[in-house]
Amino acid sequence: RKIRIIGVPLDLGASRRGVDMGPSAVRVAGLEARLEALGHNVADGGNISVAIAETKHVGEEHARYLKEITETCTRAADQVIETLEHGMTPVILGGDHSVAAGSVSGVAEHYRRQNQKIGLIWIDAHSDLNTPETSPSGNVHGMPLAALLGLGPESLANICGFSPKILPENTVLIGVRDIDATEKENIKRTGLTEVYTMRDIDERGMRTVMEEALRSAGRGTAGYHVSLDMDWIDPEDAPGVGTPVRGGATYREAHLAMEIIADHGRMLSLEVVEVNPVIDEHNRTADLAVELISSAFGKKIL
Ligand code: ARG
Ligand code: MN
Ligand code: MN
Ligand code: MN
Repeated sequence: RKIRIIGVPLDLGASRRGVDMGPSAVRVAGLEARLEALGHNVADGGNISVAIAETKHVGEEHARYLKEITETCTRAADQVIETLEHGMTPVILGGDHSVAAGSVSGVAEHYRRQNQKIGLIWIDAHSDLNTPETSPSGNVHGMPLAALLGLGPESLANICGFSPKILPENTVLIGVRDIDATEKENIKRTGLTEVYTMRDIDERGMRTVMEEALRSAGRGTAGYHVSLDMDWIDPEDAPGVGTPVRGGATYREAHLAMEIIADHGRMLSLEVVEVNPVIDEHNRTADLAVELISSAFGKKIL
């Protein structure tokens, strides 16, 4: 494949600082060389410009830095569209997860121009389905999936001028284990049914869960975007994330999920978010991110 790396050093959506260094950490871990070793043609498009928190006002406390985040997401969407128009596969490096409100919008817009829908595979400890009304933190990285499904916040939901970006039946959540009480009601409001919790993975196994998930995301769509929040993985293996939650996917489960995605062959774009080298141990989380991206792009044991 032809791959373009797009860095989005955004940390305005999270309260813990440091995810703005995520793109750099993943590059330092050798992403481009590893993908090229697999036979892909890789071009690094550099970083999108992002506002620095200290130079801006928080704005609305219920959705902190929403204006700046929307601007960054709009630029990310434009870059993603341009990348797809050139026949390249976008790999977006976060930054906090609010960037997904832009990247997924770009993918959806590109395929909408061809009258096609897209699916979304959301792999995360969290469901990121808060709205400014339900968010306990006011952090926008807890809201991007709500925006993509058309719930809000409104400016984020309307990037590229249409909403929703994806339908609930083509949206799957994998690995969730930490949902705010008020956020739970949003799951019902959005009509999402494909929510695979850690319990599902424990009881039914990664393979069954992935096969069902990919089938739903792929049904009637051009393919799907994969949004990988590194806090999905257990903090034991991915300590460098802003909002760690115990009981996450193991190293092996995470690789298997990416290998199954590669075998299925319908991934349109990939993003990896919430890598925070400031609180990491020797860049372990970025190293793992590079390994998982490699598996998603076809790296095999044999
Ligand atoms: N649910 C919490 C909140 O709304 C945590 C969200 C964490 N999101 C993330 N992308 N890491 O603040
Ligand atoms: Mn190159
Ligand atoms: Mn997330
Ligand atoms: Mn998360």
